[in-house]
Amino acid sequence: MSASDAALSRAQDQVRRAVDDETARPSIAGFFDEATNTVSYVVHDPESSEAAIIDSVLDFEAASGRTSHGSADLVVEYVNTKKLKVNWLIETHAHADHISAAPYLQERVGGKLAIGKDIIRVQEVFGKLFNAGTDFERDGSQFDHLFEDGEKFALGKLEGIALHVPGHTPADMAFIIGDAAFVGDTIFMPDFGTARADFPGGDAGQLFRSIRRLLSLPDETRLFLCHDYKAPGRDDYAWETTVKQQREGNVHVKDGVTEAEFVEMRTSRDKTLAMPTLIMPSVQVNIRGGRLPDPEDNGVSYIKIPVNAV
Ligand SMILES: [Fe+2]
Repeated sequence: MSASDAALSRAQDQVRRAVDDETARPSIAGFFDEATNTVSYVVHDPESSEAAIIDSVLDFEAASGRTSHGSADLVVEYVNTKKLKVNWLIETHAHADHISAAPYLQERVGGKLAIGKDIIRVQEVFGKLFNAGTDFERDGSQFDHLFEDGEKFALGKLEGIALHVPGHTPADMAFIIGDAAFVGDTIFMPDFGTARADFPGGDAGQLFRSIRRLLSLPDETRLFLCHDYKAPGRDDYAWETTVKQQREGNVHVKDGVTEAEFVEMRTSRDKTLAMPTLIMPSVQVNIRGGRLPDPEDNGVSYIKIPVNAV
């Protein structure tokens, strides 16, 4: 059995144990940011109150270059009200549509900042694009921990496992805690489909294989998505679904769709999509673990825009 198959099999076993045992399942709160269609999560073990914050959002107004903390403060308030002990500040990937609030949250509630280990490849690509100097380390050292495929972690008594699910970007990870999988930008609600695969380092075939890997978790696995954009005929935002619902009804990847069909659909659809409004600030800040580029000699941080380079 390959290391990747062994990791998946451990994840399947973990979910089955949590499906059978209520005390092995996490409590989950989702925080939806309508400006970027992003869902942040606070996941915790009800018994020990140990928690992880996944994919937080720093509010950023592109026109003025101003940051603010309304979204992050809602998370802080929740953590404080529930008296949670934050172990982890996890990013499923280097987001291209919003800036992470992880450093802001770390100052207030603690926790180790973590992302997938292939962030190093993303740092290489975007370090070049933004002509970052030698002071920008491309070794993932801006994060406290780099997760590997199949790596186990814990929230109190709850079991967790990280799975590498590349395709949207080379470094995407899914984090499975008890029976809940935080799948980042892989799959979206069944009526909306899947994440795009046309960013630098993206690969539609790889995305398909990553999604099928997630959909081989048990039917009952709860899937929590990083984004929702509604869908034609649906008026409310939604971000929780199950493996069973996805296999039966996902408009892009339900059972029976082949990799070739998916790649054809994904590639032609991606050609019609505009770049996210906040891609330039988001990527520059998120590859630095959510920290702004070092201030210049006047004390101000600047975000660059590469002209005619993307
Ligand atoms: Fe993304």
